[in-house]
Amino acid sequence: MDDARYQELVQKDLAHWVHPQYHKADHQAPLMVDHAEGVYLYATDGNRYLDGLSGLWNAAVGHGRPELAQAASDAIQRNTFTNSYVSFTNEAAIELAAKVIDLSYDNMQGVYFTNSGSESNETNFKAARFYWTCKGKPEKNKIISRVEGYHGNTLAAMSATGMSVFYPGFRPTVAEIFPATTPGATPTGGGRIDSGNINIDNIVAAIEQEGADTVAAVIAEPVQGAGGVYPPPPDYFAQLRDVCDRYEVLLIADEVITGFGRTGKWFALEHFDVQPDMVSLAKAITSAYIPMGATLWSKEIHETITGTDPSVKFMHAYTNSGHPVAAAVALRNLQIFEDENLVENAAARGDQLLSGLQRLDENPHVGNVRGLGFMCGFDFLQDPETDTAFPVEAKMGAKFLGAIKRRGLISRVRNDAFVLAPPLISTAEQVDDILTIVEDSVREITAEV
Ligand SMILES: Cc1ncc(COP(=O)(O)O)c(C=O)c1O
Repeated sequence: MDDARYQELVQKDLAHWVHPQYHKADHQAPLMVDHAEGVYLYATDGNRYLDGLSGLWNAAVGHGRPELAQAASDAIQRNTFTNSYVSFTNEAAIELAAKVIDLSYDNMQGVYFTNSGSESNETNFKAARFYWTCKGKPEKNKIISRVEGYHGNTLAAMSATGMSVFYPGFRPTVAEIFPATTPGATPTGGGRIDSGNINIDNIVAAIEQEGADTVAAVIAEPVQGAGGVYPPPPDYFAQLRDVCDRYEVLLIADEVITGFGRTGKWFALEHFDVQPDMVSLAKAITSAYIPMGATLWSKEIHETITGTDPSVKFMHAYTNSGHPVAAAVALRNLQIFEDENLVENAAARGDQLLSGLQRLDENPHVGNVRGLGFMCGFDFLQDPETDTAFPVEAKMGAKFLGAIKRRGLISRVRNDAFVLAPPLISTAEQVDDILTIVEDSVREITAEV
């Protein structure tokens, strides 16, 4: 695309389109992808970029797969749409529900289809309330989350999101849905491990303060993703499971990022031998070829919600829930996962990526190298010895994104935390390319400090 056409499009974009997390000032020279294939994006600036975050953690099987185009085309031609409201159904969504249950935790039984991660969390919040209402405890209606957790941006999902940067202009949050903060601390500690985000005592204190008889559920990402990739200590989720059981509170695993192989297991709490009560899914269920999400419920929750008197219906609905085309694409996508052993590949490539990143520890301004499976991160630090951050004006994260982009890699930062989650199809050679770019870019920007 020539520059005149690019400029014309950007002006039109600025004139009308309000993007997610928007301010015009940040959108003067957006990257425009012309086409994409495998792990690579080919931009209108003439450059090829390795997609270091799989789109937004979702393009698991990589870009431009003809099998998925074919699956979508076949499904559209067969039956573009029939609704999934009660008394209508379709073959693809039936098979998908059974497939996802088969792949997930042994205690899972029920599926509700959504269109996004935010909707999956909304659905689980409502389902948790519905469950307790069925149990004769409608006053158990609060949802407790964690600081630095990200759960989406509809009003309830935003309220659960423990990053205060998302609230200004949109208050009030939903009062009954909130992150458990460390007493005396602000909700956002800047995305650092010590900010209280992975602190079991915060959850216990919040449940006790509210009274367990008012709490429906705790929601947690197995690995905090958008917050900066924070895997938990190995015993954290077993403890959280015990806390939830002790206080009779449901455990919602927000696996919108970690679901479907990202951590080297199909679902991330398998790492810790823990079964949640509810799971929120989206992203890799279709590898981003078409929007779709899902929630999974344990046998106990599924049977309670569906076992009511016929006069008590689960009156929750989305027009596109169980969309036959999205479901057909999801089924074909999961077939690719199995045919190409992508979960095993995520584990192997994740080990390679993490051990490569650990070499950066030698740099005096890199610390907290971390990861689980094929999602990794590290922090730029002024002084790793004391875990001291750079002043905000240093803009280390933004500088680093510029440095990797010049070398052909795209990913994201949260403040000074850099995160990577490449497509699950990545080869060993492509991971080496990522590591070379990251090492060279770290050297460049830390040399200027
Ligand atoms: C853990 C988690 N939950 C929920 C969401 C929200 O998903 P969506 O943007 O599809 O609404 C995200 C998005 O990144 C996420 O990472």
